[in-house]
Amino acid sequence: MKILLAGGAGYIGSHTALELLEAGYEVVVADNFCNSSPESIRRVEALTGKTVAMYEADVKEKKILQKIFSEQEIQGVIHFAGLKAVGESMEKPVIYYRNNIDTTLSLLECMEEFGVKQFVFSSSATVYGEENPVPYVETMKRGACSNPYGWTKFMMEQILEDVARANPEMSVVLLRYFNPIGAHPSGRIGEDPEGIPNNLMPYISQVAVGRRDHLTVFGKDYPTKDGTCRRDYIHVADLARGHVKAIAYGASHKGVEIFNLGTGTPYSVVEIVEAFEKVNGVPVKHEFGPRRAGDLPESWADASKAEALLGWKTEKTLEDMCRDSWNWQRRNPNGYR
Ligand code: NAD
Ligand code: UD1
Repeated sequence: MKILLAGGAGYIGSHTALELLEAGYEVVVADNFCNSSPESIRRVEALTGKTVAMYEADVKEKKILQKIFSEQEIQGVIHFAGLKAVGESMEKPVIYYRNNIDTTLSLLECMEEFGVKQFVFSSSATVYGEENPVPYVETMKRGACSNPYGWTKFMMEQILEDVARANPEMSVVLLRYFNPIGAHPSGRIGEDPEGIPNNLMPYISQVAVGRRDHLTVFGKDYPTKDGTCRRDYIHVADLARGHVKAIAYGASHKGVEIFNLGTGTPYSVVEIVEAFEKVNGVPVKHEFGPRRAGDLPESWADASKAEALLGWKTEKTLEDMCRDSWNWQRRNPNGYR
């Protein structure tokens, strides 16, 4: 079965490409490399000994997509192609709405034209918004998001639900990721953020490798045990395996299904820093600063539905996540560059 990964050269897409190839799927990648490098897919090919059909393509552009769909017998689509920096989305909302929504619409139009009926979407825990209590369960209503990035995910979930309702032949799986960290254990592929990282683990790794002086821990007065925020960190390899399960599930189920992909266990910022230092034997200089606007005290998944319906649960530990993040960073101090 041949799967198109839109945005497949990115952090989660490249790890998913690897897992799909190892599970026997054929993989086509369409990416404009606005936040990635073709090198990630070259390394996936080297790691698996298999080839990937790779297109440099803006997934908003229907003409390019039509070329890909006519050249490749695509049977399912996983849509990773999105802009994802929360702060930037507040400064440049139009670019975020245009990119994230148009990529989805163009993919859907081409799928209809070429009779492709399986769609898996990279959604986010951010759609639970600010009002729902933890742990988040898929049956909860989507909540009000605090930024345009979050709203694009909210809107795309709505669009995909509407499309599946109108077309009973469609299968749509919405995957709500929690906090992906870590890297492939080989240290050959991993997260390669442009500029100053927004997210915790890439920041920690860059401090450890000497690219940044210190980590600022955002807030220590939250109502948690040590006063710092708690999140559901998930190893990117576990997350990638979840996509393989979602593709297999979607091949035999119609309609929309939503799955949280998380571990169900939260860790605080301080716990992450301490685990990283202990596992890797490297210091991570850190200072406490004010809260970051928009951060919630706690976010974690009820991960039981994915286990029950997909037969998927996480296998990696926090130690694995810290070790593999550091292994990637240490071997690739400047990412793919
Ligand atoms: P990433 O930036 O590494 O990957 C996204 C990829 O999409 C990049 O390769 C980028 O070049 C590509 N892309 C963006 N716009 C494109 C366009 N118009 N045409 C073609 N390619 C385009 O990010 P990631 O962490 O791998 O995230 C993948 C998806 O998962 C995104 O949709 C993101 O919003 C979602 N997500 C990520 C996280 C996270 O913490 N990483 C959490 C929740 C959801
Ligand atoms: C963020 C986004 C979320 C998005 C996800 C993946 C916000 C409010 N949320 O999640 O919508 O889906 O990234 O892109 O931006 N931290 C520090 N110091 C740092 C960086 C982070 O203390 O330098 C803390 C944060 O306060 C938070 C935790 O580490 O408590 C995790 O932060 P981060 O990795 O940015 O993820 P989220 O904020 O959970």
